[in-house]
Amino acid sequence: ATMSSEAELLHTFKGIPFTTRSSPDLLKSLDTFDAREDDVLLVSYPKSGTHWLAGVITKLYSTQVTITSPIEFGDISQLEELNKLSSKRIIPTHLDYNMLPPNFKNKKCKMIYISRNPKDTAVSMFHYYRDNPNLPTVDTWTAFFDLFLKGNVVCGSWFDHFLSWEEHEDEKNILFLFYEDMKKDLPKVVKEITLFLSLNVSDNDIQHICEKSSFSEMKNDTEKENSDPTHTVCALTSNRKLIFRKGAVGDWKNYFTPKQNVRFQEMFNEKMKLSKM
Ligand code: A3P
Repeated sequence: ATMSSEAELLHTFKGIPFTTRSSPDLLKSLDTFDAREDDVLLVSYPKSGTHWLAGVITKLYSTQVTITSPIEFGDISQLEELNKLSSKRIIPTHLDYNMLPPNFKNKKCKMIYISRNPKDTAVSMFHYYRDNPNLPTVDTWTAFFDLFLKGNVVCGSWFDHFLSWEEHEDEKNILFLFYEDMKKDLPKVVKEITLFLSLNVSDNDIQHICEKSSFSEMKNDTEKENSDPTHTVCALTSNRKLIFRKGAVGDWKNYFTPKQNVRFQEMFNEKMKLSKM
């Protein structure tokens, strides 16, 4: 059953598994994407806190901004839709750096990359695989752990994704954020974001925005709203109810066996040899 549903739900483009919610035609056309100088990209590997960050960022603007659907979401007509938007665009994406439309790079658009301890990311993604009908089913954590380590999951290897972006860490138009820092001191991270985006937001307002962006507030908001299938921050689902699961740091300890932890650590050390992480 896993094999057939995988074949129906996933396809591979340039060596990376995508869901069928990203059409091959759209992916092929990304290179021609028209970026605007004032676009802001919100980049992440799935399950790193994308919705959280998106929720915070929209609250920072006093002018009209639109969180668009991800660039890699939909079919080719989606590009037209994004083109038509008249307001400033905040564009989410799970693309790795190499696949990002060159226009964003040439125009030096601001980009925010959020990442998270890959062990917690893996556990979060395991639940996403189980709950999200757009992803293949997995029977056990053990099975998923192997897929994750091999990079045989949607959006490919966490390590490759992270490294492709980290290579550009020093570029002035790219801001690196960590989920764990947001958990520890959200106002501090939000302050950093406002400086990066050149937004004038008072400390009082920042405090208020942080309260509105807590896990429980965001989860509650989601339960009250009707899900709009056309609006999505993550190309893998439009159902926000799937997003707010636990929102904790260190949940991996409830899933990793000591052996898995050793295997993960070995892979981490090998893959991240040249990383500053
Ligand atoms: P868990 O599955 O560990 O709970 P993404 O938005 O990239 O899909 O990431 C989803 C993860 O971010 C989920 O992790 C989710 O609970 C967590 N998350 C979402 N909103 C959050 C918030 N306001 N505070 C803390 N974690 C949040």
